[in-house]
Amino acid sequence: MPQSVFSVILAAGNGVEAPTFSLTTMHQRQYGYFTADYREFVITEPRTPRPWFNYMWNSCYTGLISHTGGGFSCLESPRDNRITRMRYNSLPWDRPGRYVLVKDVESVADRYWSLSWAPTIQLNYDRYECHHGQGYTRIVTELNGIRGEITYFVPTDVDAELWLVSLKNVTERSRSLELYTFTELLMGNALNDLINQPNDKHFPDVHFDRQRQALVATRRYWVLNKKVSVAQPNLAWGNWVLFGQSLPVTGFDGSLDRFIGRWRSETNPIAVETGEMGNSEITAGDPVVALQSRLHLAPGEKEEVAIALAVVPRSETELDDPFEAIAWSELVDVDRARQRLRQVQQKWDGYLSTFHVETPDEAFNASLNVWNPYQAAVTFDMARNAGFYHGGLLFGTGMRDRFQDILGVVMVEPQRVRDRLLDALRYQFQDGSTLHNFFKLTGWGERTNHSDTPLWVPFGIVEYLKETGDRSILDEMVPFYDEGEATVYRHVVKALEWAVANLSDRGLPKIQNGDWNDTLDHVGPHGQGETVWGAFFLGYVLKQSLSLFEFIKDEENLARFRRAYEALRKATNDYCWDGNWYVRAFRDNGKPIGCAAHKQGQIFLNAQSWAVLSGLAPQERAAAAIAACRDHLATPYGMQICWPAYTKVENDVGLISRCVPGKKENGAIFNHASSWFVLAALTHGEVDFAYDIYHRMLPLRADLDSDRREVEPYVFPEYVTSPEHPTEGQGSHTWLTGTAVWMLRIGLDAILGFKTTLTHLEIDPHIPSYWAGFRARRKYRGKSISLTVRNPDGCNLGVTSMIVNGRTQAHNRIDVSQWDENTLNVDVVLGARAQ
Ligand code: NOJ
Repeated sequence: MPQSVFSVILAAGNGVEAPTFSLTTMHQRQYGYFTADYREFVITEPRTPRPWFNYMWNSCYTGLISHTGGGFSCLESPRDNRITRMRYNSLPWDRPGRYVLVKDVESVADRYWSLSWAPTIQLNYDRYECHHGQGYTRIVTELNGIRGEITYFVPTDVDAELWLVSLKNVTERSRSLELYTFTELLMGNALNDLINQPNDKHFPDVHFDRQRQALVATRRYWVLNKKVSVAQPNLAWGNWVLFGQSLPVTGFDGSLDRFIGRWRSETNPIAVETGEMGNSEITAGDPVVALQSRLHLAPGEKEEVAIALAVVPRSETELDDPFEAIAWSELVDVDRARQRLRQVQQKWDGYLSTFHVETPDEAFNASLNVWNPYQAAVTFDMARNAGFYHGGLLFGTGMRDRFQDILGVVMVEPQRVRDRLLDALRYQFQDGSTLHNFFKLTGWGERTNHSDTPLWVPFGIVEYLKETGDRSILDEMVPFYDEGEATVYRHVVKALEWAVANLSDRGLPKIQNGDWNDTLDHVGPHGQGETVWGAFFLGYVLKQSLSLFEFIKDEENLARFRRAYEALRKATNDYCWDGNWYVRAFRDNGKPIGCAAHKQGQIFLNAQSWAVLSGLAPQERAAAAIAACRDHLATPYGMQICWPAYTKVENDVGLISRCVPGKKENGAIFNHASSWFVLAALTHGEVDFAYDIYHRMLPLRADLDSDRREVEPYVFPEYVTSPEHPTEGQGSHTWLTGTAVWMLRIGLDAILGFKTTLTHLEIDPHIPSYWAGFRARRKYRGKSISLTVRNPDGCNLGVTSMIVNGRTQAHNRIDVSQWDENTLNVDVVLGARAQ
């Protein structure tokens, strides 16, 4: 990142020792580096501890792509509508994939190799680079005097993936090459493929269209059951898959068996080894789309090839030509493919221009400017669903995730967020409760009775309003999942009514089958167990909703839910304080969970964080709870979710006690929960400490050991193993985690101080005292807010002066509707020191 003229005010000069950040070490990492602008992570050593993934997608078509070309694709649903295969339960973990093998027909050694390193991984390449950027992955290789480049991406405007290949002969002699491009198809229900493949393989068709020189595939039968079962729906899979390329085709295969050959795998397909494609077309069997081409390259000559895999709905093309329906010739045109790649890149340039930050912490800047918003966008579109760790077979879209994930994109794409919110509200019942998860294509989901899930509805709607001020959403009519329909506003109120109706006699929420912590699932099987975190979370949502009732002047709901909020203040403080922190829950028999007197699970992070965030903890209890977290839960990578981890099973707690100690919810550094703690500590005013934890959590930190961490150094994992396990520091479940959206918003709103409210933007930075200032800009309700903060006295917070477009303000609020100018230059001086 270029040094800025602003750096003079970023330099620490207040006696507090600042961490040192060196530009060179910031970019270099094990196994690769970040480009100067951080827009790409470039892997230079393919033998990473695990496959390091990226995403390419548009509103319908999604592909996961590893740094070796592995991964799968799907249309809308990774379970119900999978296009290509991924083999679960095997090593390497990213097989199969989208491969282009090159064969030098005249050489003897290393006769064929892959342009993405895998699957012919036994070879040492002269050059290998995988550039993961936003929406594309480019792999550059050099072997046997051939420089190869393959760029995988999904265009913005068509349900397809394009592989743009270039081959250059860097030797002094002419080269005769064969090119083999292939990927294994699934076409349909991925779960069914996994459990019933011997039967399912009787339904695919693959044939070669001689006119277009392309393969055409479909499946005659589609298992689109709500659940996979022995019941057999009477349905065809509704699509054609088309696979072709810009080079003339010299051979093809639609049969995986024929292409790979007996007792072989994708590392050594018989067709590649012998040079003889089977020209197989299938009406049953395992489908592949594999094409062979030949090319000659003079010394120094370069050739480019566009390869396309596209999906066309069958219903629309039954009588028509699927190739016409998708403007096929443009898809396999190199120039047009290059244009489409530029469109993807421009889309991301635009996306990432919504905000920009310049602070003294380079890892923070790179995270907020590039990788964190990118991960948040992925999380928004994939839910906890289309992922490498979340295999896409079980869960569908989570309701609580759906309503939280909007946080990460609402600043950029408010209309898409609005549509998503309206769509997700359809999964709410008349009584205010909701499904826990749902599957997009079937509309089916489960009512798991998690006590927190319905409350994310008001949470999401209020957050949307805070960003956009779009009150019209409240009047939209949305059907209930069972019967009837109501306005969005009514849906919100019903969720609150449901929560308040499900309190115990003591006024704490009944935990039912669990709360946000999915593994506290046997705390209250008899209906008496209570959740203390849930009480604070309800308090937080009520508080947020009170501001909504105030905003729209609904006095009746304001009064009754204010009473509910105050009742929670009493109940939580009467029953839930353990002496130094709040307990986490109460079992059916009233016995608490999360007490100092216990041998395991003494203290739980979320109960403390949300006690503060809800505003229900008195000042001294808030301080004590935060100090207890600092003492017991802080690690070099963030905050543990609880401590000590469970080593003995407790049947009246649940799955948490069966998880390996130090991993997952059993004491891991659970980043989602850790981010909430950062917010709580900031809210409480412990800014230096909060920022320190935020920084420890950043995957872009230059000092992380990738061999220990194992996962991608550019995205947050769901959890990092805690010191309570020998694999301390190991990350897992990257990409799809609520961490992404919370870290982004905590960075922008709570640290840099762009605090959105229903009526205005409040400028309220909470920065480390060693920052002498920062600059940041953000779009808000149609205006560009350009913020410059100076911190001459080494403070953490407290706006002592604010000037907007040259006019001194008497407060730190900006009501953008009062300003005619499109750009507001906001100059702020901080002046208060906290903690
Ligand atoms: C992952 C789920 O996606 C999330 O909703 C849940 O709250 C956490 N696990 C914690 O259990």
